[in-house]
Amino acid sequence: MSKILVTGGTGYIGSHTVVELQNAGYTPVIIDNLSNSNKGVLKQIASITGNSPEFHEFDLCNEQKVIEFVKNNPDITGLIHFAASKAVGESVEEPIKYYRNNFFSLLNLLNAFKDRDINFVFSSSCTVYGQPKELPVTESAPVQKAESPYGNTKQVAEEILSDTAKAFANYHIIALRYFNPVGAHASALIGELPLGVPQNLVPFITQTAIGKREKVTVFGNDYDTPDGSAIRDYIHVVDLAKAHVAAIKRLEEHKAKANYEVFNIGTGKGLSVLEIIRAFESSTGVKLNYQIGPRRAGDIEKVWGDVSKSLTELGWKAELDVEEMMRSAWAWEVYLKEKNPFG
Ligand code: WQD
Repeated sequence: MSKILVTGGTGYIGSHTVVELQNAGYTPVIIDNLSNSNKGVLKQIASITGNSPEFHEFDLCNEQKVIEFVKNNPDITGLIHFAASKAVGESVEEPIKYYRNNFFSLLNLLNAFKDRDINFVFSSSCTVYGQPKELPVTESAPVQKAESPYGNTKQVAEEILSDTAKAFANYHIIALRYFNPVGAHASALIGELPLGVPQNLVPFITQTAIGKREKVTVFGNDYDTPDGSAIRDYIHVVDLAKAHVAAIKRLEEHKAKANYEVFNIGTGKGLSVLEIIRAFESSTGVKLNYQIGPRRAGDIEKVWGDVSKSLTELGWKAELDVEEMMRSAWAWEVYLKEKNPFG
C-alpha cells in the first residue's frame, strides 16, 4: 500500500495517526524535528503495531532539506501535515515564531511536491470559526478573525491550500477541522505529552489527579451555558486518527468532489468543563480537586460541530464516548508515572 509522509508524526495526534495508517496497511514515513515530541514514541508505536515507522529528523523550515527528501522519495503519493506550533497562549507571546514555523513548513512542502500528483491532508482546527453564531457549526459557517496568531496560522494556511488547489490540478487537498482532541491509545503506550504546564484541560486534569498539579481551575462559570462553564466538542484522539486514514482513502480512491475540501472532525456533541470533570471522576473513580476561577482571555463560550458531512462524504464518524476518553487519558498518565518510558 502507499507510502504516506506524516509530518509531526512523533507528536500526539501524529503518533496515533501513524498507528492507524499501519493498521490500515499503509506505510507511514515520519518527518519530525522533535521540538515538541520524544523520539521514544517510535518504539512505543512498534510495541503497538509490530512496525517501527521510518523516521527522518529535520526541520521542515529548511527548504533544501525538504526538496531533497521529496526528490529522494518519489514513491510518496500522500502526506498528512501535522507539524506546526499549536499553543494558543504561546502564539500570542511569540507571533513571529508561529508565523515563521507554521507558514515556512507548509510552503516548503507545497513547493517540494509541485511536480507530482499529491494527496495532501492538512491538520486544521475549529478555531477558524471563532465563536460561531449558529450551533452546531457547519463547514460553510463563516471563518471569523482568529483570536490568536495560532488560530490565524490555521485560517491563512487554509487559504494558501485553497488557492494552491485552484491554481494546480496536481494537489488534491483535504483540511480536517479538529474540535478538541483528548484521550490516548487503548494500550496506554502513546498519548499526549505536554511539555511544561499543560495548556489544555484534559492533561491538566490527569496531572492533577496523579498529584503533579495541586488543583484544576475552571476558567469561568458565568458563561451562558446550562452549568455556566464553557462548552467544547471533545473527540477521542483515536477517532481523530481514523478520520485522517478516511481522508487519505477518499483521495486515493479519487472520490473527492473538488481539489480542496474541508471537513469537521468532532463528535457533534458539546460538553462543559464541569461535565468533563464529572465524567473523569465517574470513569476513573478518582476524585478531582478543582476550583472555579476567572475566564481565560481569548476563550470562546461554546462550540460543537455539525459532523454530518464527514459521515456522508468521508464515511467516518466518532465511535468512542467521553468515558473512554477520560479512562484512556487517565491510564496513559498512570503509565507515564509508573513506567517513565521516556526517561
Ligand atoms: C478547553 C476548555 C477552557 C484548561 C485549544 C485550541 C484548539 C486545540 C485545542 C490545538 C476551555 C477550559 C482549560 C484549564 C479550564 N489546540 N479550561 N481549565 O482552548 O478549547 O482549544 O486547544 O490543536 O485549536 O483552540 O482547549 O483544552 O485549552 O480548553 O477551565 O486548566 O477547558 O477555558 O473552555 P481549547 P483547552
